Amino acid sequence: MQNLKLVFPCEGYDEEWMAIIQEMETETLDITPYALKHRTKDYEEYLRIVRSYAKGISLPNGHVRAETYFLTKDSEKRILGAIDIRFVLNEYLYNYGGNIGYGIRPSERRKGYAQEMLALALDVCRRNGLKKVLVTCDDDNLGSRRIIEKNGGVLENIVPFEDENVMRFWINLM
Ligand SMILES: CC(C)(COP(=O)(O)OP(=O)(O)OC[C@H]1O[C@@H](n2cnc3c(N)ncnc32)[C@H](O)[C@@H]1OP(=O)(O)O)[C@@H](O)C(=O)NCCC(=O)NCCS
Repeated sequence: MQNLKLVFPCEGYDEEWMAIIQEMETETLDITPYALKHRTKDYEEYLRIVRSYAKGISLPNGHVRAETYFLTKDSEKRILGAIDIRFVLNEYLYNYGGNIGYGIRPSERRKGYAQEMLALALDVCRRNGLKKVLVTCDDDNLGSRRIIEKNGGVLENIVPFEDENVMRFWINLM
């Protein structure tokens, strides 16, 4: 274990938050999970949104109550990655999106962080009373697939979505 922890977004992480977003945008042209930024302009607005979504308040259409966490190590402020936990499965999440979405910043990949970040998120799910969670990935995302399987994911099926094939795994939390 690498002394990793999940931190709910709070004051003091604004520079780190901007840094991880910039790194993801530059390196991959994509921010994963989407909830690492939502559609916010600055960190203050971001904090308002994640706090309200965590309470299930002011949710946009099609959204469910969700908590987003930063992954950090030791007492460092550096945000290594982020994970988004959706506590309810609506039709889209049940079919494609799953309960949990995550990403590690490009410069910190292949160090075992995602595998442990998912394990920590599963503890949060257990504490919230979930008995099982759905985690999905595209069938060509070998890293994500490995992480889900290493956390106990059992493949239910593979379904087409847009140009991809989505693998749907259940993880039993009991
Ligand atoms: C997928 C992702 C989260 C992996 O994060 P990571 O921290 O590099 O993964 P880990 O270091 O925890 O790797 C766990 C296992 O997966 C394997 N793995 C990780 N990335 C891999 C890749 N690109 N190809 C093949 N295997 C990979 C590792 O070797 C390790 O397996 P091992 O323990 O048997 O050696 C990261 O690449 C990422 O953020 N990608 C973009 C966003 C994304 O795809 N999110 C998932 C959406 S479903």
